[in-house]
Amino acid sequence: MAKKKYLIITYGCQMNKADSERIERIMQVFGYQKTSDEKEADFFIINACSVRQSAIDRVYSKVKDLKNKNKKAKIILTGCILKKDRENFLKDKNVDFIFSINSLKNWQKFIKEKKRYFWQEKDIKDCKYLEIEPEYSNNFSALIPISFGCNNFCTYCAVPYTRGKLILRDWRKIVKEAEKLVNLGFKEIWLLGQNVNDYNFKIKGNKIPDKFKKIIKNKVVDFATLLAIINDIKGDFWIRFTSPHPENFSEKLIKKIAKCQKITPYLNLPLQSGDDEILKRMNRHYKAKDYEKLVQKIRFYFKKYRKGIEKDPSLSTDIIVGFPGESEKQFQNTVKLFKKIKFDMAYIAKYSQRPGTIASKFKDDVLSQEKERRYKILQNLLRKIAKERNKRFLNKKVEVLVEEVKKENNFFWCYGKTRHFKSLKFKSNENLQGKIVNVKVIKADSFGLLGKLL
Ligand code: 5AD
Ligand code: SF4
Repeated sequence: MAKKKYLIITYGCQMNKADSERIERIMQVFGYQKTSDEKEADFFIINACSVRQSAIDRVYSKVKDLKNKNKKAKIILTGCILKKDRENFLKDKNVDFIFSINSLKNWQKFIKEKKRYFWQEKDIKDCKYLEIEPEYSNNFSALIPISFGCNNFCTYCAVPYTRGKLILRDWRKIVKEAEKLVNLGFKEIWLLGQNVNDYNFKIKGNKIPDKFKKIIKNKVVDFATLLAIINDIKGDFWIRFTSPHPENFSEKLIKKIAKCQKITPYLNLPLQSGDDEILKRMNRHYKAKDYEKLVQKIRFYFKKYRKGIEKDPSLSTDIIVGFPGESEKQFQNTVKLFKKIKFDMAYIAKYSQRPGTIASKFKDDVLSQEKERRYKILQNLLRKIAKERNKRFLNKKVEVLVEEVKKENNFFWCYGKTRHFKSLKFKSNENLQGKIVNVKVIKADSFGLLGKLL
């Protein structure tokens, strides 16, 4: 009998991508076969994102679209979905199954039993599904989740409700996965968590292998220690992580990041707002001044412990405009800080009310045209600042990890990222996908660099 076929559609962040790599593997273990043809799929798995209403709207239209194209296929919804949306999806006959990602191993059983709904976000005690060996999407850059869920309860955020409380993956399993990937020749490792600097694994008993006894103090592996252990793995590879939280970002951690030379000089540090009152109502636990000081410290230690262009790291951030009650003056505080810090990159979002979150009780009173206006102001500012910042790479030699190539006549366009996480393209006679190469930067725009292969 021919194998049943599946197709996965992934929305959202890298965490969802890492989950999809596990779904991929489990579907194959269950005996299904991957397809990219929507017409021949027997299962569509939609891995959803709830960060904004628009992301969920996209899921609704995708469900409709898929059923129009292929009536016989079953649709499984998973990922980050809020309770209210799950209830709505349950009313939709086009949705066949809704399962939480942490129940992945049981999906086949549920399907056989015709159990349409299983969701666990409360009282989750482990994140064992993360130990399902992922089907990595390529052989040079890998995502390694280090935790699951989040305890922060920022008032706007859906994650604590869709994924539940923070659970840490065992440090040994993270390190083993990283060692295996480096031995396989992977060039880049991303450590993922909703809030990576909350990682703080307490070791029970005396289970510390000898080679780690020097580095692990007081039987605790915190994020700084985890980074140091991974940085010690022999091999030529880059370490990246996302995302840290500006709260609890200790000097010890900053020093460690600056000192560990495999860690790339790139940090996404979500600011969300530059106004203290808004930050307080977002439940962010820091003030604009604290954030500014943190950035100064990060820049100070990179200058101290790195060489050449690595002395000036790239800094990106996340900002929400139009949070409930955000006045013009409060928005201007964000603008001011934005100008002062000079971010290399920013992911700017218009506030979107998420049902069930604390902020959903606040009146969403900034009009959508006004959110759009604030969004554009920051976006234009970013374009200017980013261009200015990118000029520091002109005529400099940088390393690039080539992610994609496109053949054109008798050469290849190679697209990749520098260690500063800048998009860069260059021409080559060879297909260099998956390789780290040296390139000279010959042009710098706001959102990309042009290089010449050295
Ligand atoms: N509305 C708009 N943006 C949001 N984000 C998270 N929740 C919301 C929301 N309700 C943004 C934050 C976060 C990023 C992943 O998405 O900036 O850092
Ligand atoms: Fe990722 Fe947050 Fe979206 Fe979930 S809601 S997919 S954690 S960005």
